[in-house]
Amino acid sequence: MTPSTGALRHPEAMTAINIRLHRCEDDSQIFDMQQMVYPDHPLYRDRSLTAKYWQWRYFSNPAIQSFVFVATVDGGKTIAGMRPLSIVSVKVGQRIRKALWLTAVITHPAYRKRGIFSALVKHSLQHAKDMGVDIAYTFPNHNSYPIYQKKPQWRTLANIPILVRPLNYRGLVLKSFRRVLGAAENHEIRQTMPSFADADLHNGDSSLFQLRMTRHVDHEYTRLWDNVSQEIQVALPRNRDYLKWRYLDCPVLPYELIEARDAHQRLLGYTVIGLQNRQGMAMGLVVDLLFYSNATRAAQSLLKAGLRRLKALGADLACALPANNPRLRRLLARQGLRPLPNFIRGGRVNFIGTIINPGLASDDPFLNFDNWYLTWGDTDNA
Ligand SMILES: CC(C)(COP(=O)(O)OP(=O)(O)OC[C@H]1O[C@@H](n2cnc3c(N)ncnc32)[C@H](O)[C@@H]1OP(=O)(O)O)[C@@H](O)C(=O)NCCC(=O)NCCS
Repeated sequence: MTPSTGALRHPEAMTAINIRLHRCEDDSQIFDMQQMVYPDHPLYRDRSLTAKYWQWRYFSNPAIQSFVFVATVDGGKTIAGMRPLSIVSVKVGQRIRKALWLTAVITHPAYRKRGIFSALVKHSLQHAKDMGVDIAYTFPNHNSYPIYQKKPQWRTLANIPILVRPLNYRGLVLKSFRRVLGAAENHEIRQTMPSFADADLHNGDSSLFQLRMTRHVDHEYTRLWDNVSQEIQVALPRNRDYLKWRYLDCPVLPYELIEARDAHQRLLGYTVIGLQNRQGMAMGLVVDLLFYSNATRAAQSLLKAGLRRLKALGADLACALPANNPRLRRLLARQGLRPLPNFIRGGRVNFIGTIINPGLASDDPFLNFDNWYLTWGDTDNA
């Protein structure tokens, strides 16, 4: 573990702010801060969910090394900010590169605008550089994006428009009114999805493949990724272990995995869906979708089945990120998923990146969004 390094001076009181790696005993202060900053977020309202999520997201996957840096004041007693990060593998061209994925950062409201966030980012980049990490990326929200934009080393890869399709017009209209009146309801996070009917998964009467919901990912998933990834320039590898951890082992968000197999039980493709309640709306997320290039019909059926399932679960809207891949974009468009208009606040996901390894060219393929295969599940918003 890296010892505590980096100190900056609080300009008014000249109190030293130190940055160090997080310890288990910091958790309760961190969870308090998350609750204070996101009082309506179902994940942070319920302390047991926060703890479960924290453990799973940052400390349960041996293939993804995660760290949390904390900025402390009062001689180390008070946590004034925290910066979680993960070191992930990203496929870039024919290589696998180590990438720094910066996630949900917070500065305590009492210590903002003193450079704590900026110092935590700088510290994280240096730490990653020391570890031989090549590149870094993050999906900043409207609070942190403007600060990153002032830092010349960060480049905007895309302001990705969220694709949506209404699933429940009446519910949408009613809930929009409630939101305007400030009476949007808060929902708890569903711990389990209600059981599904096989009828939800009919596949358009094709005898070529079958759809089914599963809680098991076998080696066919890694084989699918190995094949499909040959045509993908940049992506987080979706092998069996990753998918199991990311979607099936997640203790707080009940994702559902629907797969298509042919008569010989060969996997043709899969989709992952999830339901989240945000600002009083039930958002049905198409979290991932991957299929062999010759299995477009199966993919179409998977997507339709996913949307039917989300509607049955009570989703008002279906949402997806376009994954900058023409085949997937066409598929989503054919199911009526359209970009949210520009003027809607939060209608875009900011995606920025930077090169850490000075040996890499400034036009590395990683920095070009056209090369990416990216879905909701690759962000920390799902
Ligand atoms: C976004 C957030 C992390 C920023 O934290 P912060 O510690 O205040 O950030 P910094 O101090 O590094 O920078 C913030 C601003 O203060 C300015 N600043 C930095 N040092 C300063 C100093 N010594 N004196 C005055 N201003 C300073 C920065 O230039 C920046 O200016 P801007 O507001 O014009 O962009 C914080 O607002 C927060 O926790 N928000 C809620 C959670 C959130 O949205 N997190 C982002 C998730 S992606």
